[in-house]
Amino acid sequence: MGSLKTENEFEKMEESESKEAILYVNGIRRVLPDGLAHFTLLEYLRDIGLTGTKLGCGEGGCGACTVMISYFDQNAKKCVHLAVNACLAPLYSIEGMHVVTVEGIGNRRNGLHPIQESLARAHGSQCGFCTPGFVMSMYALLRSLQKPPTKEDIEENLAGNLCRCTGYRPIIDAFSVFARTNDALYTNQSSGLSSTEFVCPSTGKPCSCGLNITDNKDATKKSICHGDTLKPITSNDIDGTSYTEKELIFPPELLLRKSTNLCLNGPKGLKWYRPIKLQHVFDLKAKYPDAKLVVGNTEVGIETRLKSLHYPVLIHVAHVPELNKLIINDEGLEIGAAVKLSELVKVLEIIVHERDPNQTSSCKSILEQLKWFAGTQIRNIASVGGNICTASPISDLNPMWMACGAKFHISDCRGNTRTCLSEKFFLGYRKVDLASNEILVSVFLPWNKPYEFVKEFKQAHRRDDDIAIVNAGMRVLLEKTGKSWVVSDASIVYGGVAPYSLLANETKNFLIGKPWNKEVLEGALKVLEKNIVMKEDAPGGMVEFRKSLTLSFFFKFFLWVCHQMNGEASFDETVPKSHLSAIKLVKHPSVIGSQDYDIVKHGSAVGAPEVHLSAQLQVSGEAEYTDDVPMPPNSLHAFPILSKKPHARVVSINDVAAKSSPGFAGIFFAKDVPGQNMIGPIIFDEELFASQIVTCVGQVIGVVVADTHENAKQAAIKVDVQYEELPAVLSIEEAIQSNNFHPNTERCMKKGDTELCFLSRECDKIVEGEVHVGGQEHFYLEPNSTLIWTADGGNEVHMISSTQAPQKHQKYVSRVLGLPMSKVVCKTKRIGGGFGGKETRSAFLAAVASIPSYLLNRPVKITLDRDIDMMITGQRHSFFGKYKVGFTNSGKILALDLEIYNNGGNSLDLSLAVLERAMFHSDNVYEIPNIRVKGKVCFTNFPSNTAFRGFGGPQGMLIAENWIQRIAMEVKKSPEEIREINFQKEGSVLHYGQQIENFTLERLWNELKESSDFLAARKEVEEFNLNNRWKKRGIAIIPTKFGISFTAKFMNQAGALVHVYTDGTVLVTHGGVEMGQGLHTKVAQVAASSFNIPLSSVFISETSTDKVPNSSPTAASASSDIYGAAVLDACEQIKARMEPIASKHNFGSFAELAMACYMERIDLSAHGFYMTPDIGFDWETGKGVPFKYFTYGAAFAEVEIDTLVGDFHTRRADVILDLGFSLNPAIDIGQIEGAFVQGLGWVALEELKWGDAAHKWVRPGNLYTCGPGSYKIPSVNDVPLKFNVSLLKGAPNANAIHSSKAVGEPPFFLASAVFFAIKDAIIAARAEVGCSEWFPLDNPATPERIRMSCIDQFTEAFIDSDFRPKLSI
Ligand SMILES: Cc1cc2nc3c(=O)[nH]c(=O)nc-3n(C[C@H](O)[C@H](O)[C@H](O)COP(=O)(O)OP(=O)(O)OC[C@H]3O[C@@H](n4cnc5c(N)ncnc54)[C@H](O)[C@@H]3O)c2cc1C
Ligand code: FES
Ligand code: FES
Repeated sequence: MGSLKTENEFEKMEESESKEAILYVNGIRRVLPDGLAHFTLLEYLRDIGLTGTKLGCGEGGCGACTVMISYFDQNAKKCVHLAVNACLAPLYSIEGMHVVTVEGIGNRRNGLHPIQESLARAHGSQCGFCTPGFVMSMYALLRSLQKPPTKEDIEENLAGNLCRCTGYRPIIDAFSVFARTNDALYTNQSSGLSSTEFVCPSTGKPCSCGLNITDNKDATKKSICHGDTLKPITSNDIDGTSYTEKELIFPPELLLRKSTNLCLNGPKGLKWYRPIKLQHVFDLKAKYPDAKLVVGNTEVGIETRLKSLHYPVLIHVAHVPELNKLIINDEGLEIGAAVKLSELVKVLEIIVHERDPNQTSSCKSILEQLKWFAGTQIRNIASVGGNICTASPISDLNPMWMACGAKFHISDCRGNTRTCLSEKFFLGYRKVDLASNEILVSVFLPWNKPYEFVKEFKQAHRRDDDIAIVNAGMRVLLEKTGKSWVVSDASIVYGGVAPYSLLANETKNFLIGKPWNKEVLEGALKVLEKNIVMKEDAPGGMVEFRKSLTLSFFFKFFLWVCHQMNGEASFDETVPKSHLSAIKLVKHPSVIGSQDYDIVKHGSAVGAPEVHLSAQLQVSGEAEYTDDVPMPPNSLHAFPILSKKPHARVVSINDVAAKSSPGFAGIFFAKDVPGQNMIGPIIFDEELFASQIVTCVGQVIGVVVADTHENAKQAAIKVDVQYEELPAVLSIEEAIQSNNFHPNTERCMKKGDTELCFLSRECDKIVEGEVHVGGQEHFYLEPNSTLIWTADGGNEVHMISSTQAPQKHQKYVSRVLGLPMSKVVCKTKRIGGGFGGKETRSAFLAAVASIPSYLLNRPVKITLDRDIDMMITGQRHSFFGKYKVGFTNSGKILALDLEIYNNGGNSLDLSLAVLERAMFHSDNVYEIPNIRVKGKVCFTNFPSNTAFRGFGGPQGMLIAENWIQRIAMEVKKSPEEIREINFQKEGSVLHYGQQIENFTLERLWNELKESSDFLAARKEVEEFNLNNRWKKRGIAIIPTKFGISFTAKFMNQAGALVHVYTDGTVLVTHGGVEMGQGLHTKVAQVAASSFNIPLSSVFISETSTDKVPNSSPTAASASSDIYGAAVLDACEQIKARMEPIASKHNFGSFAELAMACYMERIDLSAHGFYMTPDIGFDWETGKGVPFKYFTYGAAFAEVEIDTLVGDFHTRRADVILDLGFSLNPAIDIGQIEGAFVQGLGWVALEELKWGDAAHKWVRPGNLYTCGPGSYKIPSVNDVPLKFNVSLLKGAPNANAIHSSKAVGEPPFFLASAVFFAIKDAIIAARAEVGCSEWFPLDNPATPERIRMSCIDQFTEAFIDSDFRPKLSI
């Protein structure tokens, strides 16, 4: 290779590079300015006003920023279309390409794209924040395929997109209409397709949008093909024939344009090079030895953005042909280091299909491993070399390369080349055998020999798009010697058990020369046990689980090889049939769902399954969220200065460096607060800015404002705070031990005499136990955001906020600024999800931003980065429950003594109300003659925990179901029997004095038992478990009763303002916030029905404190009840005023009537009000009627677990709810499905890991799981494979508007059916080793908890029988 260039020659090369850099965005040519080397594509798009592409996480983990990039592949002579994460793609990496965003494919004015239309109509968009990302993933999939995808392809393709609202089922349904359903339609050989028709690249459906679109439109209409689950709305909507005339074409300029060298710049001397020859790379490397190579930027991007690393020179090598080669020869496959993972997948698929299977075991296993490697968007840009050179200890591919005996080709600047065996390449934690002047050029993967077997393994928290906890690549070469098959070579490599991918050398040495049989298995397991050494506090934790996985994987490998060898002469190690379950791949069918409900209409709109009113705006990316609102001139960005210690005295603050930081505009601390520094939603027990003592990591100490978000962040980071550390309380247990409770939070509720009952000998058994309930992050897709500005010379303050409680924002800001509330206005149009997380914890952020805005008299925006949002804004409370329960031998409950504690964090916030609701719900649906529930809120040095869907109710009920399940095991009956014999009844008096009326639970329960065919399911599961040693199935059926009303009586009030205009349209404003739950749609339906006008005549623009004052937060599920009623009140007032005019004439339309009233000077505007009657609770007596009514429901779930690794999937979930006469059944179904899947996350996937005694490898008080990379909410692959939802029919509710019932929170708890089904499966697994005793299972039932509960020969080396995996509570 070439020699080093002289400085002079190099300058010349740089000059020749300075050609115009361009890109096309939605068909429009744009010249890329220099100076933006630090920009991502997302920042650029949002800066040029394309705000449809959202920032959800900034780390490639949520898919909200998905766009399609297209380029012309000069070699293949075709356009390549790829979905990518704009938040990770460096702007200059897209130079010369076409970027298509959600705005580019359709909008309301010019027509929605069929994908957008279908998603809107299928109710696939709730809060809408994730929606553009889903649309673009689907769009890119259809554009990139030659033939339409299957349903499975579609689901697989969506793995990189997260939705927190819908539960995914409607999204899958909406996109399924584009799936290939009838091959004949796509082969153009039959079924009446004319020769002019082909499959539309835009929609994936047959149409004639190709060559002859204008000639033969009629013929096209005949060939329409609809999906089989969702009926398209009109033929043209879905087949794309009308739409594709508007489809963006690939810009002709880019067809001819050749890549050139690029040299561009960024701030702080940052340089961006794009060489197009390998020699250029070496020249640059010679000039800048520390330059960072970049391909997909999926590692470098995370390092620079999240870890604040700075690389002054970046060399983008994605366009270097030598690094992109894919060469197949007789020895193997050579893969260029810059080859993208999705390209690798394609080539491996061809190889596996075409080559001798004896040669392709490595290829097959790498292919299989790649299936679980990140999501499509990451695989489309991430490179092979990037993964190798990062040398992550949990890289999925490095163990594979090592196991397969791959070789790495390395070159340096002087032209020297060398080959390094992959197993020698990884030297230490993120350290590889690569000098600073060397680069990895390619990887050589040899073909396999006959009887050489390679297998991949990976266990993660979540199956889809998750990094491994432990992974492995294993290879063995068997050779027939004499009468047995012996190991002639082997390679066993693990990821996730050491600082680098670990070659288990001793195990390999042990295996070689030995026959492949049970004895060698046992011996190898013993060697492995010693081979894998991990310290108790090893980073990542879960040490026992990780060690067990190493053995489980090897056991699976052993069985798999035996199975492959099955039938070979002289190989007699047969795998017993039931053991095949250890290696059988679970092939997931596509998700099937059914929704069953009656439509009971009332007037023109109530009861109809109307689509969410903003659906079209949301699918087209036109819907505006707080961060999308254009910044007024002179605006600043705020970034909080955060405590780094959980409990400490602030000794000094040095802000000199911050003040000289670029773009700095101001810094403010407690002393600068013009009003009150003490804040809080109920009691003022938190400081806006910590003045002397910090009580959690992430507590706000001050705020910096600067010209950009990034500059504000950098300046805030530079503030040097010195601390004197104080002892911290970092768990409920520590709080109890040190008596650290929030003041006045002790509560008690009683019925009967528990103690007397325990003493009376009525109870055949009395058992005691503890329940640990983990917390949960809200993970609304839209992070917290407020834009705040002063008006009229600083006399007024206005803000737009993403909040469930605009009135709380108004109150907090008025308090900290010392302004009357009448001068502070908060508006909210919509929010990208809240789930309780934006009920109070958004308000202090608005208050933080208000200080610089007010003092500098400039607009200020605060938008939290995802990690900061997760770190500082609180979560669902973790709980600790201690129970003592007495019961008869038949399982009848006689007495319960319960103590519950929740983790309030460092301020009270809503923790007491959350505890109280948990106490109200601690009976779930069971009659308990004697009950005493005591509760306390723990003070801990964590950020204040807060409201989250269910508000403590789910935690209370989960504790109840735990002791129910315990009773079942004690009396050897099924939990369902115990549930049934203890059900409450009509007229039952609850432990807080409320009497049950209109009890529909038994009806629901019986209908569900019948529709799920529970008894048959139980039999099938038993049969399956009998025949499968290593996979077990479990089922459960769980009831719920959820109390509707705020338990604080004064909050059950609502206001509304209704204006009727002279054209007959109606503007409604009410105190509730639209956060995706469809509140505005339901309320508009109420107004439309009241006036008997079409829904389209009613509009709700926003929620605003200057239109409807003193509103309660949108929470407690009751918003449609109370705001619907308030709006109805206003409508009825207007109608009453119209009545004299209406009765005089027969008006042709409502518009005519409105105009006539106007002419008669009738006030067509009214304020409506509603307060929930007949409720109230007295804590003095512990008795009252806290709830207006109850929403009842039940769910059945069936799961399958892999007992060796802890993996699970939900095979089926059937949910039934009593929602009275639903105001909008489609929206209610959406709430049920969304809540269920969110609940599934809580019970089985989502685990918060805090720096506490259980997680010593995390810094004290810090949140480890502060992004989608480490915190896993359910993805599309976690949806129950069969998901049936029904609403109870013929059960009107007299206690709420139009006989409906509240829906938002009640279904959440029903997901615990999955938790108890998992437990049921574990019980079956434990029975295999003769263990039938009760055991605790904490939630979430993650793979770690599942696997470690399925005790067997592989766990016994590491744990004893009372082992309980660590949990932060
Ligand atoms: C959301 C998300 C999910 C992920 N999931 C997974 C997963 O499931 N499994 C997994 O293993 N990883 C995963 N990763 C990690 C990452 O995607 C991979 O490591 C990826 O392959 C890196 O490739 P890249 O091209 O983006 O690397 P870049 O970020 O561009 O580069 C990474 C490093 O490699 C160096 N480098 C690149 N090419 C060369 C070369 N030719 N010679 C020398 N050095 C070079 C760079 O200088 C840099 O230090 C995930 C990352 C994200 C953001
Ligand atoms: S914002 Fe890009 S993936 Fe989340
Ligand atoms: S609709 Fe998907 S996150 Fe809200």
